[in-house]
Amino acid sequence: ANDRPAAGQPPTATYESAFLKACRREPVPHTPVWFMRQAGRSLPEYLKVREGIPMLESCTRPELVAEITLQPVRRHGVDAAIYFSDIVVPLKAIGVDLDIKPGVGPVVEKPIRTRADLAQLRDLTPDDVSYVTDAIKLLTAELGETPLIGFAGAPFTLASYLVEGGPSKNHEHTKALMYGDPQLWADLLDRLAEITSAFLKVQIEAGASAVQLFDSWVGALAPADYRRSVMPASTKVFESVAGYGVPRIHFGVGTGELLGLMGEAGADVVGVDWRVPLDEAARRVGPGKALQGNLDPAVLFSSTEAVEAKTREVLDAAAGLEGHIFNLGHGVLPSMDPDALTRLVEDVHTRTAR
Ligand code: CP3
Repeated sequence: ANDRPAAGQPPTATYESAFLKACRREPVPHTPVWFMRQAGRSLPEYLKVREGIPMLESCTRPELVAEITLQPVRRHGVDAAIYFSDIVVPLKAIGVDLDIKPGVGPVVEKPIRTRADLAQLRDLTPDDVSYVTDAIKLLTAELGETPLIGFAGAPFTLASYLVEGGPSKNHEHTKALMYGDPQLWADLLDRLAEITSAFLKVQIEAGASAVQLFDSWVGALAPADYRRSVMPASTKVFESVAGYGVPRIHFGVGTGELLGLMGEAGADVVGVDWRVPLDEAARRVGPGKALQGNLDPAVLFSSTEAVEAKTREVLDAAAGLEGHIFNLGHGVLPSMDPDALTRLVEDVHTRTAR
């Protein structure tokens, strides 16, 4: 399932790709680049193939998933593909009544707030998501040496949607449960860790070369609460896939105070948003881990010169790192000019060519 060379065999081109080398903190021919949310609404070819197909339905059609995943690879020449799906797909697959509302995000019909509500969360089996296996088989055949990143939502971020019932600014119901009923909270996160682990294993076994665990909203927590109430579940997820030997990336927004703990949870690569320069992030994370990031996505709305200047700042801060994967500090926004993203990939490749 991973790309590690078998005994006595030469390594595959995928194993030797700049992206996987950087994840392993090996020397690279150029700094690899990919973008969170690189597939999606910034691309006219995406809007075209998605026309009339609801988001969650599109995630269950293997040919469509493969096409959408490949679109940014073809257009931008990024160094990795990310599997097109959503963090709520495994929850939908086990029968949680939810939908993705355009312009809003995931909305859950019956929020989880009591012990009885936990019954909504049964185990995920590979048969529940056979379309994922099918799509990844199609993709790895098409991608050639370009690695495919699988992903899942981390237990805290999934819990925040399930407990709030939808997107939330203050996470008040989530925190009320976390502080007010620590045992139910721990059981909820443990359930979600099981489901997330199973979902990542399906993707790795089908051919994903790396995985990213998105804990997008965990930056809402103080370090002590993260350590006590979230880290055990995230650690369980990372440990469950450790045996595959594929790099494990961990990312969240506004996590400057949590970077060390997020690495400690079991990541090989820590994703950093734009608020902490990469040299400072490296000090917080400590040795033995690669970093991913961290150009402010909003910079892409300024002039080419300004984008280049800010890109240089990111690369300068990363100059002393052992492994750096260039990315935005959060996802591509729907209104971004795709040509600016293509120029950014070229610029990073040119500036870092060794
Ligand atoms: O290219 C890629 O990166 C893969 C695609 C991807 C999607 N969702 C597709 C999507 C990934 C990695 C995700 C993960 C995801 N989903 C996260 C973690 C990443 C992050 O940005 O922090 C989160 C928090 C979600 C939940 C979610 N799903 C949101 C906030 C939204 C946007 C709602 C909106 O309309 O603004 C979604 C829907 C969604 N997921 C879209 C896409 C392309 C947009 C819906 C559409 O195209 O119709």
